[in-house]
Amino acid sequence: MRKKIVAGNWKMNMSLQDGIELANEVNESLLNDAPSCEVVICTPFIHLASVAGIIDTNVLKLGAENCADKAKGAYTGEVSAEMVKSTGAEYVILGHSERRAYYAETPEILKEKVNLALANGLKVIFCIGEVLEERESGKQNEVVEAQLSGSLFDLTAEQFANVVLAYEPVWAIGTGKTATAEQAEEMHAFIRKTIAEKFGKDVAEATTILYGGSCKPSNAKELFAKPDVDGGLIGGASLKAEDFKGIVDAWKA
Ligand code: PGA
Repeated sequence: MRKKIVAGNWKMNMSLQDGIELANEVNESLLNDAPSCEVVICTPFIHLASVAGIIDTNVLKLGAENCADKAKGAYTGEVSAEMVKSTGAEYVILGHSERRAYYAETPEILKEKVNLALANGLKVIFCIGEVLEERESGKQNEVVEAQLSGSLFDLTAEQFANVVLAYEPVWAIGTGKTATAEQAEEMHAFIRKTIAEKFGKDVAEATTILYGGSCKPSNAKELFAKPDVDGGLIGGASLKAEDFKGIVDAWKA
């Protein structure tokens, strides 16, 4: 059985104090009522070390939202994979559509980031997904396949075992417009088939594929019920402990 995951992506939200409070709330709620999936919160860099010190990693794991495409040195303002790892974080989100769109992250840059993250012992949550125009012209599979092959297909199967995929149709992120469970399943099955062709069936079957884009407590259960949907990457709804826990609970019977 592949791992089921609900991961929060706080994006550029929360002061340090508010972030610590939220992490505490999420941690407490999971200690009181153990989750039946892996739960991760991905926070801004500045929160990582403090949050690492207060969460119980038996119920809650920690991740960053990005890392540099260089190992170290004179890159003012950047944060390396090694630095992320040293905070106690286990995961890093790479390839989020906001990074691709607003910070010009190309498949080649993302390939460097993925390699550095894996080399430093981080697990990667790698985001892929099409924009509305691409879906309307029926190009979504082609786009997603190019994103996968452009950044991940030089990995060995052993390295790829530390990659979690997140399918996030860009038109569904922060818009309140969720993909239907059927649209999500159709794409997740395509992604799994593409992984099987590259890395083999066993690797594909073991790969966790998350859905992201306006996932909330009210729609999580229907999305997670699909055979190829292994959890969610949650933006807006991860900023309130109650909503986030509601999505985590979608994995309960
Ligand atoms: P959203 O964001 O849940 O606010 O749509 C998801 C994401 O960008 O990861």
